[in-house]
Amino acid sequence: MEAYNYWNSDDGFRAIQNPAQHGEGVDMVEYYKALVDELLPGASVFDFGCGKGRLSKAFDKSGYLGYDICAKALETAHKTNKGYNYITDLPLRIDRDIFFAATAFLHMKEEEIREVLCRVESKYIIISEVMGYDWRRDGMPPAYNRPPMAYDNLLYDYGYRPLDADQIPYEHYASWNRDNTNLVTLVYVRGWETC
Ligand SMILES: C[S@@+](CC[C@H](N)C(=O)[O-])C[C@H]1O[C@@H](n2cnc3c(N)ncnc32)[C@H](O)[C@@H]1O
Repeated sequence: MEAYNYWNSDDGFRAIQNPAQHGEGVDMVEYYKALVDELLPGASVFDFGCGKGRLSKAFDKSGYLGYDICAKALETAHKTNKGYNYITDLPLRIDRDIFFAATAFLHMKEEEIREVLCRVESKYIIISEVMGYDWRRDGMPPAYNRPPMAYDNLLYDYGYRPLDADQIPYEHYASWNRDNTNLVTLVYVRGWETC
């Protein structure tokens, strides 16, 4: 509840990057567009913690659904991305081709993530954020950063295995004294088939 109140406060709203803002230092719409084109062109996408819809245009609008707990952020998303759909209620079943979470899971406790993952039926899951336990800290917004291995273990419980991983420098954090200031993107696939 505390985190919910934060994201719905003025401070929380300001902490969500605006459309066309790329603290990462590269155009993240182009980055994720290329990733999806390689994985499954035209894929339908559930954008978990989509914020102001900064990344929506990376995805095909016809199969896109953005979800966030901050209704005000979704107003911006609606205005910026005509024809894209957004919701504030988490569906019981999430069955878009790709479940996508950019800089959202790091703000959530493991039990909260599990409540989400047990609804996910997507073929692919993409988690993209700054990773590593040394980023954890008290305060708001909550920061529960984890290393990739923690996500590998967590997603294993829901039937997903690692498929691909990438990392790029995150310009905004480059000068921070941390082990890994990169933006890490993990791609998981459902099931255990090898071909
Ligand atoms: C740092 S912003 C990232 C927004 C967007 N993904 C982007 O990269 O521009 C984190 C977002 O996660 C949302 N969020 C945090 N906890 C959430 C939860 N439990 N369920 C859904 N969204 C959540 C916040 O409201 C916020 O919009």
